Amino acid sequence: MSEKRPETMQRITTPALAEAFIEQQLSALRAQIGDGKVLLALSGGVDSSVVAALLIRAVGSQLTCVHVNHGLLRQGEPEQVIEVFQNQMNANLVYVDAVDRFLDKLAGVAEPEQKRKIIGAEFIRVFEEEARKLEGIRFLAQGTIYPDILESGPVKAHHNVGGLPEDMQFELVEPLKFLFKDEVRVVGDALGLPHDMVYRQPFPGPGLGVRCIGAITRDRLEAVRHSDAILREEFALAGLNQHVWQYFTIVPDIKSTGVKNNVRAFEWPVILRAVNTRDAMTATIEEIPWPVLHKITARITAEVPGVNRVLYDLTPKPTGTIEWE
Ligand code: XMP
Repeated sequence: MSEKRPETMQRITTPALAEAFIEQQLSALRAQIGDGKVLLALSGGVDSSVVAALLIRAVGSQLTCVHVNHGLLRQGEPEQVIEVFQNQMNANLVYVDAVDRFLDKLAGVAEPEQKRKIIGAEFIRVFEEEARKLEGIRFLAQGTIYPDILESGPVKAHHNVGGLPEDMQFELVEPLKFLFKDEVRVVGDALGLPHDMVYRQPFPGPGLGVRCIGAITRDRLEAVRHSDAILREEFALAGLNQHVWQYFTIVPDIKSTGVKNNVRAFEWPVILRAVNTRDAMTATIEEIPWPVLHKITARITAEVPGVNRVLYDLTPKPTGTIEWE
């Protein structure tokens, strides 16, 4: 099949255009899949969520979604996947609690690219094990979008299956492959997915793993997750979530002296990062109002165990990358 977006294809910018796209995709998906069975790795990110919602409409129970919780997701994400897809949309959802497996493999590994490799390889292994348990799967659905094809060619576009063994040959189902991100979001809205799921900020595949700097420990990972949840909550209250492209917290593997309840506390700092960018190649720093920074600092130091300081990263890209690893 062609990997080029048809020149006649209109940009999907309105609910009516999204409805037309959905109708056309429902026919195309039913024609491709027939009465076959489809498998989808559902992370809960925008792209895989929209693919899931489309396929649930098109082929219902012929779809099986596998959600792998690798322990590096944001607070509330696995719960939201179960609530939206299993409880509300009645999907066949296999939830895999692989937290211990991933964290055991990552124990003691400090080098960022090594961490990424372990997370990627383990994800494929877990997904493959689940796929083998299911009988008669012929199709593999993926949330490939057009920038994946434009930027990296078919290799990255198919990165989720790149590591599956030769004896597991699936036919790919990629209904979003000619869509840009903003179009995927309009389609997601039209499919009735929750607004915060459809408009969420980009989240890297290795998740919180690259924000828990150096070798990941469970307590420091919890400090990343908890402080990230506080930051997101306060950004939403202040309306900053509407115009800041990406914002998150980082917890480095250092401790400094502080004082809590009149006692010396030797604990971690939390670093806040909030950037704006067009294409993630360069980025500028968002100017956060002082009262918002004060409130976030007060909440994180009071609520997150093991943390006694909060810092704000003022570095644009370049020279800093957006992530710290
Ligand atoms: P950097 O840190 O390189 O990040 O300025 C640019 C954008 O890419 C995201 N990012 C990743 N996304 N897997 C991903 O899927 C990764 O390993 C990864 N590393 C960085 C980052 O969040 C930012 O949006």
